[in-house]
Amino acid sequence: MKEISSPINELVINRINKKLLDERLLKGIKFKSITGEQWFRNYDNWYRITAFANPHKTPYTELKILFDNENELKSLLNNTLKIFYGIGMGETETLIIKWDLENTKYSEVIAVDAIDIFIKNFVQILRNLKYSHPNSEIIFRGVNDLFENLNKDDLFFSESKFENATHISFGNTIGNFEQQKEIFTIFQKNMKKGDQLLLGIHLNKFPEKTLSEYANNTLFKKLVLNSIKLEGELNWKYNKHDARVEAWFGDILAFQSKKYDLKKFLKFVKEFGLNPIKTFEHQEFAVVLLKKENQ
Ligand SMILES: C[S@@+](CC[C@H](N)C(=O)[O-])C[C@H]1O[C@@H](n2cnc3c(N)ncnc32)[C@H](O)[C@@H]1O
Repeated sequence: MKEISSPINELVINRINKKLLDERLLKGIKFKSITGEQWFRNYDNWYRITAFANPHKTPYTELKILFDNENELKSLLNNTLKIFYGIGMGETETLIIKWDLENTKYSEVIAVDAIDIFIKNFVQILRNLKYSHPNSEIIFRGVNDLFENLNKDDLFFSESKFENATHISFGNTIGNFEQQKEIFTIFQKNMKKGDQLLLGIHLNKFPEKTLSEYANNTLFKKLVLNSIKLEGELNWKYNKHDARVEAWFGDILAFQSKKYDLKKFLKFVKEFGLNPIKTFEHQEFAVVLLKKENQ
């Protein structure tokens, strides 16, 4: 168990590198479907897209939902290890840790991301959080790898104070998986009885408006084209069958982001033994808390 002020090389396990990510890109091009981590490799594009003035509102609406329901969420998440899948800017993630420090001056955090700069910046954010909460302790591990490669040891502190974990994925990150079963099988494998899953999702309430927010945003075009290292035009579509915004580069599915029908979603997660505890909605976004009741 390492405290957040430990040297960074002791805090973060680096298992993925440029070569392995390049191989995944080539595989994606060969099989005509690009995997989600590729869009974040040029992280500067993501920082620009999520800058507040931009129409990409997901993290900010999730922040609003978290602020509006602070007391209830604080008590639901209290006394659990926090495991984050996908950090990006890390704003919603930071708020959850801040609540722990306000409650108990103590937090245990595991952050997983394929892009190492996001984890490194998150370490700095958490160090800053510690300065603003004197005498508090943050136990941290960063795992710079794909969600697909996680194993149980990555997600476990031997001297943990907590029996259970809350697995957390904000920013509609789960929507970047072409096969939804894939990401839920990963959660199912990593969760034990009594663990919770907190997800931020984008709902499919306004497909046309949502599509135009992607298609008319030149920053998104840049994010997608940079990730496949190609130049040209993208063909943006709303795939009604799968409720998905898609960007096609010729016959390559270069980007996709699933949007959810809340009712269908809550039925779908039951297949993975996940029961809804609480759902919070604002406009076309939702934060959903689920629990694994059985092993
Ligand atoms: C849509 S962003 C969301 C970031 C943050 N949670 C937020 O709400 O702003 C997705 C994040 O997950 C990471 N990511 C996407 N697919 C991944 C994968 N398969 N394995 C590991 N990290 C992944 C990206 O690098 C990025 O930081």
